[in-house]
Amino acid sequence: MSERSDNVTFHHGDVVRDDRERLLGQRGCVLWFTGLSGSGKSTVSVALQRELHRQGRLVYVLDGDNVRHGLNGDLGFTPEDREENIRRIGEVSALFVDAGAIVLTAFISPYRSDRAKARAKVVDGRFFEVFVDAPLEVCESRDPKGLYKKARAGDIPEFTGISAPYEAPEQPEMVVRTGDTDLDGCVQQLIEQLQERGMLSPPAS
Ligand code: ADX
Repeated sequence: MSERSDNVTFHHGDVVRDDRERLLGQRGCVLWFTGLSGSGKSTVSVALQRELHRQGRLVYVLDGDNVRHGLNGDLGFTPEDREENIRRIGEVSALFVDAGAIVLTAFISPYRSDRAKARAKVVDGRFFEVFVDAPLEVCESRDPKGLYKKARAGDIPEFTGISAPYEAPEQPEMVVRTGDTDLDGCVQQLIEQLQERGMLSPPAS
């Protein structure tokens, strides 16, 4: 996307991410959930949000179905629109991470290149790709919104997994297998990962 912001200088305040992280007792980071529609991105991210919040963490979910009503309400599902959808979410996530929050994004984000660009926006070491790994057959049998049925009938063009591609992550930092692991198990696995990576401790003062 072209930049139209000539003559605009980036203004840094004198309170920085480290200060906010000490205040919050955690590190700002993003868990970037990616997977097919119906794989469980929203379900797992909302359950993880609930548990982290219960543990006293500042955590925020950005979800495809919600963000597409507001910020990205002007976008559809062509490859270009999906790219722009993910670009905006990458920018928003980077701001939340700078604010010190734990951000959980739940978008199909089917293209590796778009996910790589989102990663590049976020400060190093704070972007964790989470592959919500469930086979197409499992997602299709769940079909919580009846969209696979419509896509098979030809009523939804460019539906991910049916008539549009999904590029699975090659080296995701985290994987949850929602077909084999129950919801609590997925949440626990992710919390352990966050702990191991030091995201639930403040920076040293
Ligand atoms: S993304 O591909 O741009 O990352 P996003 O996660 O925002 O997609 O939105 C996906 C949600 O939009 C799906 O869960 C589904 O409810 C709905 N949807 C509507 N049309 C499509 C489509 N053609 N392909 C995939 N999802 C669609």
